Amino acid sequence: MINAYAALEPGSELRPFVYDPGPLGADHVEIDVQHCGICHSDLSMLNNDWGISQFPLVPGHEVVGTIAAVGADVTNLKLGQTVGLGWHSGYCMQCGTCMAGDHNLCAQSQATIVGRHGGFADKVRAAATSVIALPDAIDTASAGPLFCGGITVFNPLVQFDISPTAKVGVIGIGGLGHMALAFLNAWGCEVTAFSSTAAKRQEVLKLGAQHTLDSRDPSALEAAAGRFDLILSTVNVKLDWNAYLATLKPKGRLHFVGASLDPLDLQVFPILSGQRSVSGSPVGSPATIERMLEFAARHQIKPVTEHFRFDQVNEAIARLKSGQARYRIVLSR
Ligand SMILES: NC(=O)c1ccc[n+]([C@@H]2O[C@H](COP(=O)([O-])OP(=O)(O)OC[C@H]3O[C@@H](n4cnc5c(N)ncnc54)[C@H](OP(=O)(O)O)[C@@H]3O)[C@@H](O)[C@H]2O)c1
Ligand SMILES: [Zn+2]
Ligand SMILES: [Zn+2]
Repeated sequence: MINAYAALEPGSELRPFVYDPGPLGADHVEIDVQHCGICHSDLSMLNNDWGISQFPLVPGHEVVGTIAAVGADVTNLKLGQTVGLGWHSGYCMQCGTCMAGDHNLCAQSQATIVGRHGGFADKVRAAATSVIALPDAIDTASAGPLFCGGITVFNPLVQFDISPTAKVGVIGIGGLGHMALAFLNAWGCEVTAFSSTAAKRQEVLKLGAQHTLDSRDPSALEAAAGRFDLILSTVNVKLDWNAYLATLKPKGRLHFVGASLDPLDLQVFPILSGQRSVSGSPVGSPATIERMLEFAARHQIKPVTEHFRFDQVNEAIARLKSGQARYRIVLSR
């Protein structure tokens, strides 16, 4: 039996919840969960904001733990190994997208907390292909957030072959945003943090940004016209995206990783005349996660975390909702 914390309906508090996971699949592993980050997507799933939640819902998709059991066909992981599990807990491994290495874009991928139970628990299961070994040089207590938030902001640097000479802006300095600042800094970029929180605009200079601007100040955006090669948005709200488009250089890119439900209302002319791009992406493939972990180890990149016990999960969620978290909350045993 697995001892978890679940919400029984949208918006409800999490309560202890015991479930029987059944026999372990031949290509699956069971992880003893030691730490699990809380991503804003856990909140959106708890509220059923995206209309895909199933209840009882056990959130948690930034897991670090040790392998407690392996299915009969698993050869890439062994008992006792320290591993991480993120948003995806399985891929079809057969479609053209998987075969091309873009597992995170697989139409048949399984998400760890959609229609299955996640990492706010003593154990969680997943297909072995989605579980990644943690390098020794990575601190286990703070590593969980790398497996969703971290890979989500690292992946665009790989996908778009971002140059170390690029000027990059990050909008929203929360869980994802603070890791983006650290990755971009180590990548060599000139980094600007756009934050709506005055107190953070000093803190970000220690997290890897060289510059900081108020993400909701029209005059600050106007002053930054034509400055950026890439802007990474991690916010889930509607901002003045046309003002952000104007801060891009020709051939610049406005890239969304924040899951906003509001439709875009973009002017075509600045896109067309400056050959600018607008795009989005989900997390990253297992190979890119490995690459990110290697990069994080080499550059000593470590998420900035606040820790709560698993039985304090409702307090931890309230803290994330308050906007006070610095910068990622992690449940730790
Ligand atoms: N694409 C993917 O695969 C993927 C993966 C993980 C998460 N996500 C999504 O990414 C988003 C961010 O997740 P997270 O865990 O980083 O969330 P988070 O820790 O809550 O951070 C979001 C940040 O957005 C900014 N923000 C919030 N409300 C705002 C407002 N009204 N106006 C301007 N800025 C505002 C805040 O930064 P400041 O205080 O600096 O303004 C806040 O810290 C969520 O939508 C999540 O679902 C997507
Ligand atoms: Zn997430
Ligand atoms: Zn596939």
